[in-house]
Amino acid sequence: MHILLKQLLPTVSLMAIVASGFTQKQTVIRPGEVWPDTDGKHIQAHGGGIIKMGKTYYWYGEERSRGLDTNFRYVSCYSSRDLMNWKFMGDVVKMADPENLGRRWVLERPKVFFNKKTKKYVMYFHLDNSSYKVARVGIAVSDRPVGPFTYVKSFRPLDHESRDIGQFIDDDGTAYLVFEDRPFGFRIAKLSEDYMNVEKEMSLIKAHMEGGAIVHYKGLYYSIGSALTGWKANPNKYSTAPTLQGPWTEFKDIAPPETNTYGSQSTMLIKVAGKKSTTIIFMADVWKPGTQWDSRYIWMPIEIGDGKLWVPEPKPWTINVKTGEWKYVQDAALK
Ligand code: GAL
Repeated sequence: MHILLKQLLPTVSLMAIVASGFTQKQTVIRPGEVWPDTDGKHIQAHGGGIIKMGKTYYWYGEERSRGLDTNFRYVSCYSSRDLMNWKFMGDVVKMADPENLGRRWVLERPKVFFNKKTKKYVMYFHLDNSSYKVARVGIAVSDRPVGPFTYVKSFRPLDHESRDIGQFIDDDGTAYLVFEDRPFGFRIAKLSEDYMNVEKEMSLIKAHMEGGAIVHYKGLYYSIGSALTGWKANPNKYSTAPTLQGPWTEFKDIAPPETNTYGSQSTMLIKVAGKKSTTIIFMADVWKPGTQWDSRYIWMPIEIGDGKLWVPEPKPWTINVKTGEWKYVQDAALK
């Protein structure tokens, strides 16, 4: 090697590291802690939803960084192939009040569905005014997973009030919206063929639950949700049914009730079906109402089967999305 190049090599390598922004590959999910994206910034995807396109996962959520323009509401998108390292793909929504809802209008819990027929990415979100009296869903559409999404319309699904929403895509690809209808309960409804409407009610579960999520596991449907306590955590619960039409069992605790779901609120259940095993991840928000940009996430693999569901105490863990296997990790940083 040329002598000068030899001398320069350490400097050149250091410059490469600096240029890459000191990004450290994540090999561990640390529930409840700051979760850096590939640029080292805490992930801003609160009340989120996840879809998988090919080998890539896309995580959409409420972007609540400090210093955003308060006239707009933002939805972020992150991508990952391993569920641990997330790359910020930008704010796929930057929207001004679309329906004259007033200065403190609300866009929450965005969920994106990919429609195979129209090839469109259809985003649903909770659209409201500051007193949460409007209770509608909004829809925005994009040709690409990473946006930009264009606002289309808002409505009350099946003419019912709708606040927190959840998304569920069954193993056969059918897409459903879960929504909280304050006077009646927790509704599960099928989307129309083009996903631009909510078409058919599958169930009204007469329980006042929000943060709704569903998973289909070994022939049984499991639904989870939280009680209606706003940003404050409460004991989340689950119920099961042989079909989405029910009958649904009584709701039971998913974690020791005194922990208030370890201080978190459900948002989604992610199914990772690998070559060796299937892992279901409980995805939840740890809200910090006074400092929302610092709100955290609890992701934990759950114990599930034979009608039982349990979220173990959050501890650092790792997953292999190819095999579907996960394990706890002794985290040196915690000692
Ligand atoms: C929670 C809900 C959040 C947000 C909050 C506002 O119950 O899950 O998405 O709407 O209330 O207080």
